[in-house]
Amino acid sequence: MNEQELKAYCDPGMVTKRWIDKHVAGSALCAPSNLYATAAFTHKILSEGITGCLVECGVYMGAHPAAMSYVCQTVGKSRKIWLFDSFEGIAERGEEDDTPRIAHLKHGDFRCSIKKVRENLIEWGIDVKVMRFAEGWFHETVPLAQVGAIALLRLDADLYESTRICMQHLYNKVVAGGFVVVDDWNYRGVQKAVRDVVGEIPQLLKVPGTECHFWRKERVIR
Ligand SMILES: C[S@@+](CC[C@H](N)C(=O)[O-])C[C@H]1O[C@@H](n2cnc3c(N)ncnc32)[C@H](O)[C@@H]1O
Repeated sequence: MNEQELKAYCDPGMVTKRWIDKHVAGSALCAPSNLYATAAFTHKILSEGITGCLVECGVYMGAHPAAMSYVCQTVGKSRKIWLFDSFEGIAERGEEDDTPRIAHLKHGDFRCSIKKVRENLIEWGIDVKVMRFAEGWFHETVPLAQVGAIALLRLDADLYESTRICMQHLYNKVVAGGFVVVDDWNYRGVQKAVRDVVGEIPQLLKVPGTECHFWRKERVIR
């Protein structure tokens, strides 16, 4: 797949991009292209009938779950959307988290309360009834959550151990054709956590203009 084809693959269309720009892009820590990709992948999941819920581990203000839900609402199809977060910010850095760019990160950074996330979603016109809030540290919530099949697994927790726990417990729930999206592929700890669980990834692609990488489980993207 060349760069132009990849760009088209990660593009949800003008109407959705306008909605993202207007409502949620200012509340995300990532570039708008990341949010566009989340919306585009959700579109594909719904139009191809890929079964399962939509999951983000590391939600901050709730921008990505909002983009997922917006697409479901516009298409008229409902999916459960899981939001895993401490709502108290990130965990402690470990020895694998030695990428210079994140050397300044400390426990509690990127905190956004669950109350604020709920308020955001309501303000953006999102139906919070489809949202499943899994509040707490991943090592406490992820292994016990009754998640079921997953169509989209989005990981955005910055650190090795946080990412590893999510991959270890949720990756086997991703269905064939489901999407796995890793926001911080440029962080050594995150990349190591993913590779420690899945090993080599046959077709790893990069969302153009971002550091976010993704693949589809047991499915070649053309
Ligand atoms: C970089 S922010 C997420 C950014 C968000 N996805 C966006 O694009 O705006 C990282 C999030 O992961 C959460 N987090 C990090 N490590 C965690 C852990 N071990 N358990 C629970 N939440 C964690 C933080 O609270 C924070 O909301």
